[in-house]
Amino acid sequence: MKGIILAGGNGTRLAPMTSVVSKQLLPVYDKPMIYYPLSVLLMGGVTDILVIARPQDIALFQRLLGDGSRFGARIDYAAQATPRGLADALIVGREHVGDDDVALILGDNIFHGHEFGSIVVDALKNNDGATLFGYEVSDPERYGVARLDQDGTVVDVVEKPADPPSRLAITGFYVFGNEALDVAAGLSPSARGELEITDVIRHFVDLGRARVIPLAGGFAWLDAGTSESYIDACNYVHAIETRQGRKIACPEEIAFDAGLIGTDELRASTLQFKSSEYGNYLEQLAERNAA
Ligand code: DAU
Repeated sequence: MKGIILAGGNGTRLAPMTSVVSKQLLPVYDKPMIYYPLSVLLMGGVTDILVIARPQDIALFQRLLGDGSRFGARIDYAAQATPRGLADALIVGREHVGDDDVALILGDNIFHGHEFGSIVVDALKNNDGATLFGYEVSDPERYGVARLDQDGTVVDVVEKPADPPSRLAITGFYVFGNEALDVAAGLSPSARGELEITDVIRHFVDLGRARVIPLAGGFAWLDAGTSESYIDACNYVHAIETRQGRKIACPEEIAFDAGLIGTDELRASTLQFKSSEYGNYLEQLAERNAA
């Protein structure tokens, strides 16, 4: 399984915050936004990851994440010259994915909930075409929305429907079999001029090989797409972390817990962030495990 984090786009809905900084580099409380989707992939055991970003932002992502070894992963980078649509990630990322399956996640999606790691591991293991994550929202017209039949089988997925067939939004985390690469390569732009991820999904829906895993009520799925949802995301992370004393989406911690890195690598990160609260957190983690 290969991973792709799609972190391009112009972030116009967040301007002027995004006038000179890529949206996915903005902080969500105490860490850059891209740490959240990166953590999801690591929780699923996906360690061969391609970050796709605008050409002018690649160097910044590289400075932030390096070659991924700090997280027990391998991270490569590719440029998307123009935001041609989400399905373009499967075209830009074709070489990276090779003959494998792919877990594609948007750089601005934040997931948090009980046992999410196991949910992701199961989803990756049992994928037979397209595995999607659904989340009930009050404003489905903002998202891709699943239409289910009476047995809960996905019969269609529609992008930003004016008249939503359900309240089940499709989140920005998609697991696809390798043929998704060919499907994406054969797409034409939609009426709004984008290569739509829903068209890739529909291929699997038509074959009866698409599955939606509903994320339960106590679960949080946040996208930081507007100023309002951005500050909600920051406040959510702040509230939970302060209350529980545990970080959400700390990739070093996830890698350490999964045995992808050892205490030496953890200590190296600790030194890098020496005087920050994030660095202290890593330091405590290293100390607890050395004891
Ligand atoms: O967040 C989940 C939703 O994400 C899904 O429910 C929708 O089906 C899906 O289309 C998408 O909707 P958005 O309105 O959030 O899409 P947006 O165009 O804002 O792009 C999502 C992220 O992907 C954003 O951070 C920018 C990045 N992006 C987008 C495009 C079109 C790219 O990196 N390259 C692109 O070509």
